[in-house]
Formats: sequence, structure tokens, C-alpha cells
Amino acid sequence: MRHWRRLCWSVWAKHELDMSGDGVLPPILLIGGGRMGAAMLAGWRERGVSQVIVVDPSVEAARLAGDGVSVVPSGAVLPAGFAPEVVVLAVKPQIAAEAVPFCGRFAKRALYISIMAGKSLAGLADLVGPEAAVVRAMPNTPASVRQGITVAIAGAHVSAGQLELAHGLLAAVGSVAWVDEERLLDPVTAISGGGPAYVFLLTELLERAALAHGIAPELARLMARQTIVGSAALLAASEEDAADLRRAVTSKGGTTERALGVLMADGAWPAAMEAAIDAASARSAELGG
Ligand SMILES: NC(=O)c1ccc[n+]([C@@H]2O[C@H](COP(=O)([O-])OP(=O)(O)OC[C@H]3O[C@@H](n4cnc5c(N)ncnc54)[C@H](OP(=O)(O)O)[C@@H]3O)[C@@H](O)[C@H]2O)c1
Repeated sequence: MRHWRRLCWSVWAKHELDMSGDGVLPPILLIGGGRMGAAMLAGWRERGVSQVIVVDPSVEAARLAGDGVSVVPSGAVLPAGFAPEVVVLAVKPQIAAEAVPFCGRFAKRALYISIMAGKSLAGLADLVGPEAAVVRAMPNTPASVRQGITVAIAGAHVSAGQLELAHGLLAAVGSVAWVDEERLLDPVTAISGGGPAYVFLLTELLERAALAHGIAPELARLMARQTIVGSAALLAASEEDAADLRRAVTSKGGTTERALGVLMADGAWPAAMEAAIDAASARSAELGG
């Protein structure tokens, strides 16, 4: 196994890698400037970009991209001579066949980074060419506050320099980890890709329960949100496992123990979570190709 391949298994903390001498990112073409594309773009801008062009037909994309970034409605109207070193594919996988193939013309020089859920390396090669250097990555929405986690895999034609470049671009919005088995990207999509939605659902359910018990709406909302935010901060500040932190708030014979007894009765919560992750993972595999 080559040295860089071994290196990339570990999670590199964000900002650990200096990607180029002056820190300015090379020219980037971003296809799809929606929620996730715009979040990544904001992270790159903080690092300093030389030139970024966004291809996105929506009016919203121009607002999300911010000042100084050109947004064009299609690949057909890119400025002549624009030669991106990185092409980031951030459209929905369902429209990839229509939105992506035009950029295959940059494959001689460019690194492609796809964040499309479920789109496999083989499917990406069909879109941009069999010799293209492609990284398949799965970020999550905390990327928009630079607290994301991205898990990625590098295709066969990615050079060591391109791997480092990809790492730096992904690390601009949070932590990055690399895997060498592509099948893992399906559970990754289900767990960290979709994970924020499960946490937000828990927040909603706590708020709903507070309302059901007659707590005023404003306080119900505050209690639910601050419980999640505070618990996440505690988790981040602690070296203990989540299970240990849970035990620490579960006194024998107390109220939390009673609640957990309901949630865990007959493995209810664990079974529901397992089934949910299996379903999302299967959907990720279905979207592949
Ligand atoms: N959101 C997440 O939590 C998350 C997490 C990990 C990965 N991802 C992946 O990230 C990708 C983008 O997701 P998102 O949540 O950012 O979606 P999104 O907000 O809908 O962004 C996609 C953007 O692509 C635009 N678009 C539509 N047709 C296009 C075309 N032909 N060329 C260029 N752009 C086009 C859309 O415009 P219109 O709105 O006008 O259609 C929209 O602005 C998806 O592949 C998704 O699987 C998302």
C-alpha cells in the first residue's frame, strides 16, 4: 500500500494541511450551488480562492454564492479559457446525467470531487470519463457552520497531490476521514450524512413533549434546543464515551432511568435506529450507478 494511502486512513483535523505555498485555492468549478455546495464554497472563501465559478440555474444560487463569485446558469456559458483544477459535483444525484457530463472535458487536468449521495465511483466514471481523477465524498449539513464530518474515498486515478488538495477542500468545512472500501459510503450516508436530521427530529419531539405537558411554547422551544446544543457541547468537551455520559445522568431508581426504560423496552429505540439506518443505507445503494 502506498504511503499516502496509509496516511489517509486516519482522520486529519481541519486546518492541519497546508495545501499550497500561499494558501490560495486553485480555480474551482462548482456544479450545483445549493445548500451543500454553498456551504462548501463559504468554507473555501474563508481560506482564499483564486477563481470559483458556480454552475446553477436557480436564482437562489447567486444569493448563496455571495459577492465576487460568478454564477452561470449552465456549463454552455462558461468563460472561454476557464481551466478548473477542481470540479465539485454538488447537484442532486437524480439530475447528474443531465448536469454533469459537460465537465468531462476538464478531465485531463482536473480533480473531480462528488458529494452526490449514492453516486458510485463507477457511475461517476461514466459521467466524466474513465481516466478522470475522482473523489467520492459524503459531507453533512453542519458543514455550513464548519462543524461537518466528511467521509471520502479516492478513485484509482487520484494523485497524492490531488488527494491532499481534496482533503484540504473538504476540511474547510469540518473533519475529514478516508475509507478504502466504497461499500462503506452507503452506511456513512445513512449515519453521518442523514444524522443531523435524526438529531433535529429528537429536538422536535422534545419540544412537542414539553408542549404536551403544558410548558409555554417559547420555553418548550428553548428547553429542547438548548438541551441538544448543550449535550453536543458536553460531548465535544468530554473524552468520555456517549454511553458513559448517558450513565452519568441516569441515577439508579431516578426519573431518567424510568424514561430510558421506556425508550429501550424490548430494544425499541435501538431497533428503530437500526432499521432506519438500514433503510437509508439501502436507498443510498439504490441511488448508485
Ligand atoms: N443536504 C445534505 O444534507 C447533503 C449531505 C451530503 C450530501 N448531499 C448531496 O449534495 C448534493 C446537493 O444537495 P443539496 O442539499 O445542496 O441540494 P440543493 O440545495 O437542492 O442544491 C442543488 C442545486 O443544484 C441546482 N441545479 C439543478 N439543476 C442543475 C443543473 N443542471 N446544473 C447545475 N445545478 C443545478 C439546484 O437548483 P434548483 O433548486 O433550481 O433545482 C440547486 O440549487 C446532493 O447530491 C446530495 O446528495 C447533501
